[in-house]
Amino acid sequence: MCGIIGILGKSDTTPKLVSALKRLEYRGYDSAGIALIGAEGMDIRRATGKLAELEAVLEAAPVSGLCGIGHTRWATHGAPTKANAHPHRAGPVAVVHNGIIENFRPLREELIAKGRVFLSETDSEVVAQLCADFLEQGLSPEAAVAASLARFEGAFALAYLFEGEDDLMIAARRGSPLAIGHGEGEMYIGSDAMALSGVTDRITYLDEGDWAVLHRNSYQVFDALGNPVNRPETKVNLEAMAVDKGNHRHFMTKEIFEQPSVMALALSRYLSPDHGAVHIPEGAPDFSRFDRLVLVACGTAFYACHVAKYWFEQIARIPVEIDVASEFRYRAPPIGPRDAVILVSQSGETADTLAALRYVKGKAGQVIAIINAPESSIAREADLALPIKAGVEVSVASSKAFTCQLAVFAVLAILAARQRGELDEQGEKSLIDKLVSVPRLMDEALKAEPAMIDAARELAKARDILFLGRGPLYPLALEGALKLKELSYIHAEGYASGELKHGPIALIDDLVPVICFAPVDALFDKTVSNMQEVMARGGKVLLVSDATGIKRAADGTWAQIEMPNCDPFIAPIVYAIPAQLLAYHTATEKGTDVDQPRNLAKSVTVE
Ligand code: AGP
Repeated sequence: MCGIIGILGKSDTTPKLVSALKRLEYRGYDSAGIALIGAEGMDIRRATGKLAELEAVLEAAPVSGLCGIGHTRWATHGAPTKANAHPHRAGPVAVVHNGIIENFRPLREELIAKGRVFLSETDSEVVAQLCADFLEQGLSPEAAVAASLARFEGAFALAYLFEGEDDLMIAARRGSPLAIGHGEGEMYIGSDAMALSGVTDRITYLDEGDWAVLHRNSYQVFDALGNPVNRPETKVNLEAMAVDKGNHRHFMTKEIFEQPSVMALALSRYLSPDHGAVHIPEGAPDFSRFDRLVLVACGTAFYACHVAKYWFEQIARIPVEIDVASEFRYRAPPIGPRDAVILVSQSGETADTLAALRYVKGKAGQVIAIINAPESSIAREADLALPIKAGVEVSVASSKAFTCQLAVFAVLAILAARQRGELDEQGEKSLIDKLVSVPRLMDEALKAEPAMIDAARELAKARDILFLGRGPLYPLALEGALKLKELSYIHAEGYASGELKHGPIALIDDLVPVICFAPVDALFDKTVSNMQEVMARGGKVLLVSDATGIKRAADGTWAQIEMPNCDPFIAPIVYAIPAQLLAYHTATEKGTDVDQPRNLAKSVTVE
């Protein structure tokens, strides 16, 4: 997703804009730019590629000014070219935009018919051109923006800058997050607290439909109807925003190796001090009120929902439906007061998941969000928001957020089982004891990294890779395939082990490694049979299991990765470690951009 920064400063803003854009890099982008108002008027510098390219442009052609806006662009409409990079300028106005103006084509045609000349292929340029048109009709900047917003359909976070107005910035949000930052005689706009963390810890989040007029020493927020409103100023924890790689080569490994500690934090938040019972600080949902759970998310967060389906159905005996948000939101499924809907999102801003939330709001008995960003749109619009406390996750590929999402789901499944009379106090304590062993088991799983590095050398040569798993390890096979695809760009697919003989086994030959997640559990022997079907056809099997499993089934396999002995309840959480590290080391073997893989964004705030 795109990143926005705006600064009404007391000193040259160029370096602050660039450093803010660096804090936005984690969102994924393919071009960047800044616009400033300096002594010579408005100036714009843009470049494709990474921020180093923009810095080179600034080195060659410096620009300075006391107020400016900046942008990192993740291309939606129009290739990542310099002409399509933001800021877009039309006459005296420059704009940066995150989102999609759905009706940009008719607006573009209308403006071209009035003689306006477009310089890009983007939807965003319409924002600048329409505002410029209203300014030419004699409207003030504020009125021109208000009139423009009324014409737009779709999602946007916007920051406007006006030539000749060096104490004015206008911001607007609808569907994409945006916040105001408060400084000493300075004012800021940013996509999130991370963008603003270099200049302030005082943040005012704009609500859906809000727009705001900012000056250095004052600002006014207006709601969608144009009424002046007050939004609370909050103080963010800057330490939590301080992201660096420490002694890791990538944020990905930092976040993978952080998992034991953040897992312990996440669990302790949701357990009583004696770890004897589940405790939900925000107030426990009452699962005895519901006949069904509906779990909705995208990508890795969806695979957390898939694991949770097994837990809720097997432990709490409650029927669970799962779906990816992009399908759910358009399926328009029947949702009623006896349904609880749980949406999962690391960023809390994924457009499809937010749309799914808005579909179920007012229909479902309760809308619960499991999120890593407590101030995000999804967190704020849910009836109950449960933070996963994973800390900032910078790498585009999710790792610690996934396992912390699983931790919260596991706690909720235990709570639901108690409330529905499926689990007694002793049973609750027993499952919690298994959960609190996860940080230690993750530590042990991380020690198998050398074997994963060895396997990755071979995996990096493959054209296709299959992942297999049964029961709650099936979603882990799906997640392992996604991690591998998004990090190493190798095609991979995850399958339920039992599905292989229904077609995919036709893919098997000695060029297609098959990775089996198979802890010794009730389904282990079934999975071993599937492995043997693969090996009988020349397939190369990488067995990921515990010592007992490897002893029983290693014969004929290409390689083995030993995991600690895990109770089946918590195995899906611990086996996320090999899923993540195999992908990571395969990617580093291939030399891809691990923290910002090509074409990906950290949060997909557009459809
Ligand atoms: C995970 O590795 C991917 N980057 C992606 O699938 C991600 O999980 C998905 O886009 C959902 O993001 P969210 O959790 O922020 O909603």
